[in-house]
Amino acid sequence: MQTKFLLGENQIPTHWYNVVADLPEPPAPVLHPGTLQPVTPADMLPLFPPGLLEQEMSAERWIKIPDEVREIYRLWRPTPLIRAHRLERLLGTPARIYFKYEGVSPAGSHKPNTAVPQAYYNKLAGTRRIASETGAGQWGTSIALACQMFGLECTIYMVKVSHDQKPYRRSMMQLWGAEVLSSPSPRTNAGRTILAREPDNQGSLGIAISEAVEDAATHDDTRYALGSVLNHVCLHQTVIGLEAKEQLKLAGDYPDVVIGCHGGGSNFAGIAFPFLADKAAGKQVRVLAMEPSSCPTLTKGVYAFDFGDTAKMAPVAKMYTLGHDFMPPGIHAGGLRYHGASPLVSQVVHHGLVEARAVGQLSCFEAAVTFARTEAIIPAPESSHAIRGAIDEALAAKAEGKPRTILFNLSGHGHVDMGAYDAYFAGKLEDFEYPAEKVKESLRHLPKVAV
Ligand SMILES: Cc1ncc(COP(=O)(O)O)c(C=O)c1O
Repeated sequence: MQTKFLLGENQIPTHWYNVVADLPEPPAPVLHPGTLQPVTPADMLPLFPPGLLEQEMSAERWIKIPDEVREIYRLWRPTPLIRAHRLERLLGTPARIYFKYEGVSPAGSHKPNTAVPQAYYNKLAGTRRIASETGAGQWGTSIALACQMFGLECTIYMVKVSHDQKPYRRSMMQLWGAEVLSSPSPRTNAGRTILAREPDNQGSLGIAISEAVEDAATHDDTRYALGSVLNHVCLHQTVIGLEAKEQLKLAGDYPDVVIGCHGGGSNFAGIAFPFLADKAAGKQVRVLAMEPSSCPTLTKGVYAFDFGDTAKMAPVAKMYTLGHDFMPPGIHAGGLRYHGASPLVSQVVHHGLVEARAVGQLSCFEAAVTFARTEAIIPAPESSHAIRGAIDEALAAKAEGKPRTILFNLSGHGHVDMGAYDAYFAGKLEDFEYPAEKVKESLRHLPKVAV
């Protein structure tokens, strides 16, 4: 009845896995937001350092993790794989449920897995300051701490609704040395334009990205960092799934289904992509992305070229999108309120290699409470979507009377999200209907792309 499956520090992966090498077709090009022509490395260099651009465009299957990055990973990696015996018993399921717990990182989520290499490659390239955005605050805290480790300055545009709901996330970023601005902010043209039109705008990830990109593009010593969506971010997160595979070997098991929550796609890619390598080699494994029904990018979006941000400054990529000016409702899983999705995750969904399912926030909080009362860990509201998926799979196994091995990614803890739990217990949370009309309107504004 072993519960924790642990690896030693010397078993931290030495290479990241690049799913591009195993895709049925090469990824679509990424387009310049002004010309709508394929971007060149020269277009992107003001935003990203060469080391990351190389990874962004690479089709190499394995990419070496620099020693300087592995040394910092040692502070919390390898993360544990835990068998959820107590949850299984409560559900009375024949399923075996395992979860990979990324909440043991200093910032409390998977985000430092990519923040650290991003800061590292920026340091190598002589960047002085990083500008970035944060939704729920998880990414902001992660890039703040990574900048601190490499002596870089850091400016964070924090989506207003989270800035107001999560003051401790802001404090954590400040503690790790970052400057934090509520977005939309008066610091940028993008922010000023929105504030002039709508002074009470609650912000969105799309707006905050516009502000951070503008900041980086208008300062020579500053580069931009994104906590999700991009190929190199998904690449860095694959340490999650690579470790999980080794840990499942220790357990003598292999998943029938691998589950992650989906916002921009990075933690999902992290747990799922290494298993897609097995799938490409002929192994049977289902892979499931769980998203909020209020922002159902993968299940209700269209697979099309769209801007990554609201102000149309970020590159245009082929992805599932609800439209770049779609403003998702203010659900408490702030990290899942993004109109688009990672182009790589979109592509594997499009090819039918990955299933997607949308769930309401009330059933996710219910799953999170069940989980906390059995497995003891308080999950981040984002991660609760993966728990919902895992519980539903376990209940389906029970209904069928057949065992099933379930692996899910618990992407973060919820210690700084207790306001959301308070609201849930006070009966103040609601399930938002799928905003079909707003999405329809927003999809009218997709760029007209010739490629
Ligand atoms: C704990 C946690 N999980 C998941 C997400 C969603 O992001 P992604 O889809 O990039 O993993 C976030 C985003 O902030 C998060 O904080």
